[in-house]
Amino acid sequence: MTVRPFKKFSPAEDRIWKLLWEKQILEARKHASELWLEGLDLIGLQYDRIPDFNQLNQRLKELVGWELVSTDVIFSDGQDWFEHLARRQFLVTEYIREEKDLAYTPLPDIWHDTFGHLPFMAHQRYADYIERFAHHALKFTKDQRKSLGSMWWYTIEFGFMVEYGEMKAFGAGLMSSPGELQQALSDDVQKIPYSLEEFDRISPSPHEMHKKLFVLDSMEQLENSVEEWVARYERLHTF
Ligand SMILES: [Fe+2]
Repeated sequence: MTVRPFKKFSPAEDRIWKLLWEKQILEARKHASELWLEGLDLIGLQYDRIPDFNQLNQRLKELVGWELVSTDVIFSDGQDWFEHLARRQFLVTEYIREEKDLAYTPLPDIWHDTFGHLPFMAHQRYADYIERFAHHALKFTKDQRKSLGSMWWYTIEFGFMVEYGEMKAFGAGLMSSPGELQQALSDDVQKIPYSLEEFDRISPSPHEMHKKLFVLDSMEQLENSVEEWVARYERLHTF
């Protein structure tokens, strides 16, 4: 496989990163899961510029044995995304949002991928779960794994988790979106316990703010969730 070089971002793009950091860091520190907080220190992001991805890639390899892969695709197709994850490759896009979209963008950008996901990915336990998730996802067709996609969305991207009796933001989409985090914490959004049955019924949309979000009771619940999903799927589809 040819390795695509990481993009060098411009000073104007670094400026957007800094604005996002200033807008989000205090709220993020206040509401984030301890996994994210520890991970932020472990990977060592800087507040004033988009990271050097050659260094960050090296860091991730040392921490968990994963690599970063640069892509110019903004919204990767599920199949391609999972194939990379199964090979312990995390795709990072080369795009950063515009200034008018600081609070929220439906398109995952370099800010979301890096500030949202990578602190979680710095933990072996979490990274191993993501790899397992991808291997399981690839056993099913796109249609079959629709509710597994919802589970990803409502846990990895927009989940909450109870830690020491307090509800903490656990999803990468919450960590990277100042608008979404604020909205998610408000009473306008119902927070209900994680439920495989609900994931069958609900269809997430990246184009609207959420009305309902899910709360995991522990890291163990997350770790068991993908095998539980597979067992449930097999039970429902075996006659
Ligand atoms: Fe994401």
